[in-house]
Amino acid sequence: MEHCKPQAFKFILKVGYYGYSSEMQLGLLAVTLLLVVGLSGHYFYTGRKTKQKTGPKAKFQSPVITPVSADFKWEETEPYPYRPFKKGPYNMTLALKKLDPNDLIALENTYLERIALREKLFDQTEFYACDDSAVDALKEMYRFIFGFMVKRYPQYFELTERGTSIHNRITQKFFPSDPADMKKEEILRLIATNIEEDMLIMLKNPSTGQFDEYILRSFITLMPAGFNPMTKLNKSLTAIHGPVPGYLQKLQISMNKFFSRVQPHEFIVRQNWSLQTHPNLCAPKGSHATKEEAEKLHPLFPNDLDFNKCFFRVEKQCVTRLPETGAIIMIIRTYTTSLMDLRADLSEEQKGIMCSAIDGISGDLALYKRRAIWGDAAKSFIRGESNGSQPIPRKHVFVH
Ligand SMILES: *[C@@H]1O[C@H](CO)[C@@H](O)[C@H](O)[C@H]1NC(C)=O
Ligand SMILES: *[C@@H]1O[C@H](CO)[C@@H](O)[C@H](O)[C@H]1NC(C)=O
Ligand SMILES: *[C@@H]1O[C@H](CO)[C@@H](O)[C@H](O)[C@H]1NC(C)=O
Ligand SMILES: *[C@@H]1O[C@H](CO)[C@@H](O)[C@H](O)[C@H]1NC(C)=O
Repeated sequence: MEHCKPQAFKFILKVGYYGYSSEMQLGLLAVTLLLVVGLSGHYFYTGRKTKQKTGPKAKFQSPVITPVSADFKWEETEPYPYRPFKKGPYNMTLALKKLDPNDLIALENTYLERIALREKLFDQTEFYACDDSAVDALKEMYRFIFGFMVKRYPQYFELTERGTSIHNRITQKFFPSDPADMKKEEILRLIATNIEEDMLIMLKNPSTGQFDEYILRSFITLMPAGFNPMTKLNKSLTAIHGPVPGYLQKLQISMNKFFSRVQPHEFIVRQNWSLQTHPNLCAPKGSHATKEEAEKLHPLFPNDLDFNKCFFRVEKQCVTRLPETGAIIMIIRTYTTSLMDLRADLSEEQKGIMCSAIDGISGDLALYKRRAIWGDAAKSFIRGESNGSQPIPRKHVFVH
C-alpha cells in the first residue's frame, strides 16, 4: 500500500464522488488498491447522501460511466454526424435533450490535429479566463473532466501507479491528477489541451435576485463563432446573449429557469448550427452583421467559392451542475464538416430539409447570421446546381 499516497487517495475519492466507483477500471493499478477504492467510494457515497439532504432536491442519481470497449480506437472513430437542422421556419427554442453522460466528452479521429491547434490557439489568442471567485469551481471542473476521461477512456487516460499523475497515452504526456496546488492558468491549459471541448463555468450571482442570473466566471473558448470571448467574462446569461435577435423575448426566462433548476448528475444537451464561408475554427469576429451593415451585404456567387473551405458548423453544448461548488458548467464541442463532405453525406431528403432550414431563418436573425451573403450560394451547391471553384474534394487543415 506504499504507493497509495494521500494525494492519490484524494483523487480517487473524487472520482468516486462522481459515481464512477462501482466498477472502476484503473488498468494497471494493483488489486489491493482497487479494493480500497471500492471501499472508499462506498464510504464517500454514504457521506454524500447526508450532504445532499441539505440541498433543494435530495435525490441525485450518480451517472454510470461505462468504459468504451477494449477495441475502441480514437483514430478510427469518425466525428459524430450531428445534423440538427429542421424543416421550415426557424423557431428559437432551447431544444434541450437528455444527454447520456457517457457522451459528455468525445474522442474522435480529429483528436491529435485539434489538440495541436488548441495548444497554438491557447498561447496565441489567450481566449481563457478564471475570475478568483471561480477557482474552486475550476478545480472541481478539472477533477470532473479527468475523472470522466479516466473512467470512459481507460486505455488512453490512465492514472499512474502512484495515482498522482494522469498519463495521456495519445499525446504521451503526463499531468497532475489533483489540481489543488496548481495555478489557474495551468489548470486551464491542461483542460484546454487534453480535450477538444471548450468549457464555460457559471456561478450564481448572490446579488441579483430578480432573474436568478448566472454569471460567466471562467471559460476556455478557443473556437468562438463570431464573438470575442474576452468580452463575455463576468457577464450574465442575458448579457452574453444580448446580441442574438429574439433571445430576450423568447429565451431569457426559460434559459434562466433551466439554469437554476438543473441538478448535479443531470446531463442536458442541445445543438445549434450555422454555415461559414471562411476556413477558421477560431472566429472571434466576422460571422454576424448588424442592421447598419445590412446594405453592404452582397451575395456570394457559388462558382467563386471553394466548398472544401466552407463549413457546416455544429456546436454540441452539454450542461450539468458540479455537485460541490454548485457551478453550472457547459462543455462545448465544435464540429465542422466542409460543405463538400456534407453534400456527399446527405440524403436527397436531408438536402431538402437543409435548404428549407436555410430559408426558414427570417428577419433579424437572418441578418445576424448574414444569410444574404451565403444562403443562395450554399443552397445552389447543396442542390448540385454548382460545384464551386474547386470541384475536387480536398481535406482542409485548420490553422486558426
Ligand atoms: C415553429 O413553430 C410553428 C408555430 O408554433 C410551427 O407551426 C412550426 O412547425 C415550428 N417549426 C419548427 C421547425 O419547429
Ligand atoms: C470580474 O468580477 C470580479 C468581481 O466579481 C472582479 O474582481 C474582476 O476584476 C472582474 N474581471 C473583469 C475582467 O472585469
Ligand atoms: C451556438 O450558440 C451559441 C450561443 O449559445 C453561439 O455563441 C454560437 O456561435 C452558436 N454556434 C453555432 C455553430 O451556430
Ligand atoms: C458537378 O460535378 C459532377 C461530378 O464531376 C458533374 O457530374 C456535374 O455535372 C457537375 N455539376 C455542375 C453544375 O457543374
